[in-house]
Amino acid sequence: MPAAYEHIVILTGAGISAESGLDTFRDKNGIWSKYAIDEVATPQAFRRDPQKVHDFYNMRRRRVREAQPNAAHYALARLEEAHDGEVWVVTQNVDDLHERAGSRRLIHMHGEILKVRCPACGAVLHWEEDLTPETPCPACDTVGCLRPHIVWFGEMPFEMDAIERRLEECDLFVSIGTSGNVYPAAGFIQSVRRNGTAQTVELNLDPSLGEDLFTLKLYGPAGEVVPMFVERLLAGQV
Ligand code: OAD
Repeated sequence: MPAAYEHIVILTGAGISAESGLDTFRDKNGIWSKYAIDEVATPQAFRRDPQKVHDFYNMRRRRVREAQPNAAHYALARLEEAHDGEVWVVTQNVDDLHERAGSRRLIHMHGEILKVRCPACGAVLHWEEDLTPETPCPACDTVGCLRPHIVWFGEMPFEMDAIERRLEECDLFVSIGTSGNVYPAAGFIQSVRRNGTAQTVELNLDPSLGEDLFTLKLYGPAGEVVPMFVERLLAGQV
């Protein structure tokens, strides 16, 4: 029997990693309540005070290394494995918890904290240690420009063409753990609705800004709601 949904796209945000101990951005006590975006997450901030920007990402890199995937990450990996159709996860998260849980068809649209990039030679390298402005690029030895492989505010997210193609063909779009504040990801639901008749689902702790645009909504902690949803989907009940 053909799969009910042949092309599933799942957008994830910080909420899916909250139960792994990683802070979200806009919840009470979230990252943006403690740090100013324009001091740590823009190209201008990096030019002005690279040490401060490195300190911010060094702290977050250490936390990611200590964190473990939770039931929601594992449920999405199980879906990819068990579902007959294609399942893609497009994540705004820079942690590696989806891949550690087993997801393979995965796009990191905001970059990856366990990678660094050298603007001088273009190298993108796996990186687990702290960075400083004095860290030389291991590929070309240039000092002073190695940066986290992260999309900062004002920069273009990665792989937008591939994402747009997946959104055009998808027949099920699921948004998990994202507040709907940051574009272009916050606009994916509108693209999906414009493109056709895909089923649209929001799984979140609280309703997002785009709540009204989703047909099916389930609210609760991702570690509970996502596995429940995946089991229903695999049983043909969605
Ligand atoms: P936000 O912090 O804006 O939103 C997190 C969402 O997760 C909120 O809607 C919460 O209700 C929900 N949430 C919290 N705990 C949850 C849980 N246990 N289970 C399920 N949901 C939970 O984070 P994002 O929407 O991911 O970008 O933020 C988008 C982008 O803004 C990030 O990728 C980052 C940030 O600035 C950059 O840094 C470029």
